[in-house]
Amino acid sequence: MNTLRQDARTVFHPLSIATHWATLVLLAAVYALIEFKGIFPKGSDAREAMKHWHFVLGLTVFGFVALRLLLRAAVPAPAIVPAPAAWQQRVATAMHVALYAFLLAMPLLGWLTLSAKGTPVPFFGWELPALLAPDKELARSLKEVHEAIATLGYALVGVHAAAALFHHYVMRDNTLVLMLPWARRWARKPAPSTLIEG
Ligand code: HEM
Ligand code: HEM
Repeated sequence: MNTLRQDARTVFHPLSIATHWATLVLLAAVYALIEFKGIFPKGSDAREAMKHWHFVLGLTVFGFVALRLLLRAAVPAPAIVPAPAAWQQRVATAMHVALYAFLLAMPLLGWLTLSAKGTPVPFFGWELPALLAPDKELARSLKEVHEAIATLGYALVGVHAAAALFHHYVMRDNTLVLMLPWARRWARKPAPSTLIEG
């Protein structure tokens, strides 16, 4: 069995790890709230509450991803051991850019949609300013784009998660371990800074 030891500095920053997994939980809630709102009749309090929390948690995703991008700029991503082929690293980078773009675009499009509809934009008891003047036609187009990218998001996250599992179980590198909450504790175990045994 392969044994990999990482230097403690070469795993993701703990805040990056925490926000990564919190984003997964938030996204699951954001999708579930809007996909299942139809179980309650139109205009009911429960349905309105589901939409409300879709907006609020969706905007929270934006806050988390902004924090992650700041961290990413300050602390470089750790290296994968053994290093994948250069083309795989290019695909991974393209995938990360797509994921970050998705995480930024979706809340912004939602915010723009509500603004164009002339609907208040709620955020934990506050009301965020409208980004656009009301325009029903524009609101409809923005909503369509928001919904189309949301569908694309399922595929994006699915491929990303499958790739992480492929790295772990098939390529047997440390990709998944770098992102696990216990990575740091594990990395600090006394051992050579990087040891790979066949
Ligand atoms: C990561 C963040 C988000 C994701 C993944 C997401 C995803 C979705 C999905 C899957 C739908 C339903 C699509 C359909 O029915 O085909 C939807 C609808 C919608 N979302 Fe989002 N959304 C996000 C954030 C937001 C935010 C922050 C807002 C507003 C502040 C927002 C406003 C809306 C609106 C107005 C609709 C249409 C609801 C309706 O039909 O009544 N979304 N979103
Ligand atoms: C079961 C679900 C998931 C698994 C197993 C997983 C696993 C991982 C792993 C192992 C990494 C670090 C390795 C790498 O790809 O560089 C990573 C990074 C990343 N993940 Fe996930 N992830 C999951 C869900 C998500 C979700 C829902 C999102 C948001 C849409 C997401 C966004 C990202 C981003 C943007 C990075 C790049 C980090 C960086 O280098 O800056 N992941 N993920």
